[in-house]
Amino acid sequence: MKLSVNTLLNETAKNPTGAVVVDGTLDTRHGPILYMEDVSVSFDGFKALNNLSLYIDDGELRCLIGPNGAGKTTLMDVITGKTRPDTGTVFFGQTIDLLSLDEPAIAQAGICRKFQKPSVFDALSVFENLELALKANKSTWKTLFFRLTGEQRDRIDEVLSTIGLLDSFSQRAGILSHGQKQWLEIGMLLMQEPKVMLVDEPIAGMTHQEIERTAELLLSLQGKHSIVVVEHDMAFVRSIARKVTVLHEGSVLTEGTMDEVQADPRVIQVYLGG
Ligand SMILES: Nc1ncnc2c1ncn2[C@@H]1O[C@H](COP(=O)(O)OP(=O)(O)OP(=O)(O)O)[C@@H](O)[C@H]1O
Ligand SMILES: [Mg+2]
Repeated sequence: MKLSVNTLLNETAKNPTGAVVVDGTLDTRHGPILYMEDVSVSFDGFKALNNLSLYIDDGELRCLIGPNGAGKTTLMDVITGKTRPDTGTVFFGQTIDLLSLDEPAIAQAGICRKFQKPSVFDALSVFENLELALKANKSTWKTLFFRLTGEQRDRIDEVLSTIGLLDSFSQRAGILSHGQKQWLEIGMLLMQEPKVMLVDEPIAGMTHQEIERTAELLLSLQGKHSIVVVEHDMAFVRSIARKVTVLHEGSVLTEGTMDEVQADPRVIQVYLGG
């Protein structure tokens, strides 16, 4: 059965555990955090997304797979406001219509994105990179007079520990390994305390050990954050996935556990191009 956003909203209104707005703040501890319904995106008549509907639960770690050109990156572009859909509904929690917000407002609301290429500042230390990410939240005049509070230092330490770079805090980011740079970038996103993290192909170019560490890192973030991971490496997806969504030609082909989707004849057909 397909639920419309309105149905979901009504259901949530009846459901006392659904997310609610308390003192103007979105409380998203329960229920879906992202709703996409009937979303279509065309590029010169070609439908990159075709009536796509997707629901991500709060705190969930969801893996998104699908062949090249299936629309995975376009889907992330729609959520972050980079690409506007021609039709459809995109909601963050029950109350925030993402199609009414621009890119900076969506980021400010708590949806962040990790791109493939790390954009850490090589000349700064690991700690300074995280400090800078904290400042990026502040308005310019506040940045000018910015001093770290004890609480903020604790927060940086906590993130350093999460990303496994506590011992490297004073190292220049430029001398970090490729994997460490990727983790630092994830740490910079964590400084903004995002509710949703979108991660496109996180393990490209990583060593086997770095891949394992990245799996642990992403698993440790679920619950506190909702994470959507796009990845082609099936062994990696299997190691982190609870629920997998398979995209094909701009729509959801199927969803389920890794075992379920890999046994689905339609998925086999799409991947083998039969
Ligand atoms: N700006 C654009 N202009 C024209 N066509 C585009 C644009 N962006 C994406 N497309 C097309 O839309 C389709 C979906 O692209 P998208 O990048 O979302 O796929 P993907 O699933 O991320 O693929 P990959 O696994 O290769 O990264 C592709 O056919 C692509 O060529
Ligand atoms: Mg892509």
